[in-house]
Amino acid sequence: MVPHLTFAVLLAFTQSTTAFLNIQGHNFLPTRHVKAHSVSTDGPTVKEQLQSLLAGAPDNALVCPVSLEPLVKTTRFIGGADPQYTCSRFGTIYRPGPVYLDLVPKEAASTPIWERSLQEFVQTDFFRNPLIAFVYERGWRQGFANAGFPGIDKEFQLLQDFWGEDVLKGTLLDMSCGSGLMSRKLAEYGSAARLFAADYSEVMLLETRRRFSDESSLAMPELVRCDVARLPFATDALDGVHAGAALHCWPALEDGLREVCRSLTPGGKFFATTFQKGAYGVPSQVNDKGGPSFRFFERDELEGLLKDAGFTEVSVELTGQGCLIAKCVK
Ligand SMILES: C[S@@+](CC[C@H](N)C(=O)[O-])C[C@H]1O[C@@H](n2cnc3c(N)ncnc32)[C@H](O)[C@@H]1O
Repeated sequence: MVPHLTFAVLLAFTQSTTAFLNIQGHNFLPTRHVKAHSVSTDGPTVKEQLQSLLAGAPDNALVCPVSLEPLVKTTRFIGGADPQYTCSRFGTIYRPGPVYLDLVPKEAASTPIWERSLQEFVQTDFFRNPLIAFVYERGWRQGFANAGFPGIDKEFQLLQDFWGEDVLKGTLLDMSCGSGLMSRKLAEYGSAARLFAADYSEVMLLETRRRFSDESSLAMPELVRCDVARLPFATDALDGVHAGAALHCWPALEDGLREVCRSLTPGGKFFATTFQKGAYGVPSQVNDKGGPSFRFFERDELEGLLKDAGFTEVSVELTGQGCLIAKCVK
């Protein structure tokens, strides 16, 4: 009795699904595929067609950090909406958490902290400390003025002048956003088609989210956790990338710059600020390859690194005692 009942329910479901797919004269399922048991070699099966109907479209900017193939966003409704992003090549699933979408390659994310390189530990993991995220915009960032940083208002003005309206209307990324100072400026300006705020640090992203939530008038950017050296953005997808006070913190700087350049659309613009060697008036002890400290730069050296990364137009200017401002076009 029970198997009969189950079969009847399944049959009714199949028929109603078929009817649904034929509503308003749109024959979504060609008749030859309606039979669930038919084995067809010349087209997709019923299951495949249903799957493709229910699947989301590939994201136009986000890709899997491993395959660089588009991420497909789908939403399951099981006790509430449960969105997930799936790599269209390997099927790897990335689930957004309550704060951000984590697109750090899974094998890198599971490396224990004691197995990370000294550079990663000093330059990146330092910012994963909740205390640093807490103090960052409560005096720490403001202290960069002593090295000649103009301050976020002036930095935004410079960025705006360089990017111009066309870039500001496009898909924008605040890379290594920290507590989200520049992301908030961009959100306040309000012209971006899409605004991403990305960082490796979980707690910096949390701080960004908290600060956005406090300013309820601002639209929340898309928060992404990622490594700049494995950027989860499609080639030619971004119109503008900002990296404020960040290049000296990237352990694989050359890879990071190449990734930023790859992700920008031809003609897309990169605006970055960082420290010149000796920015604080003391000779730099920093090893040129990053070493066990932040990596400060000579002006010409940074210009060379940006050209090597693939940018066609590069200018690096010194402001104040030791703030380098880089403006690059892909
Ligand atoms: C000094 S903060 C800059 C924050 C902000 N952009 C600003 O203008 O003040 C440097 C940021 O770089 C991030 N960072 C370090 N290593 C990174 C990596 N490998 N990938 C992405 N971000 C990284 C840190 O987490 C930190 O938030």
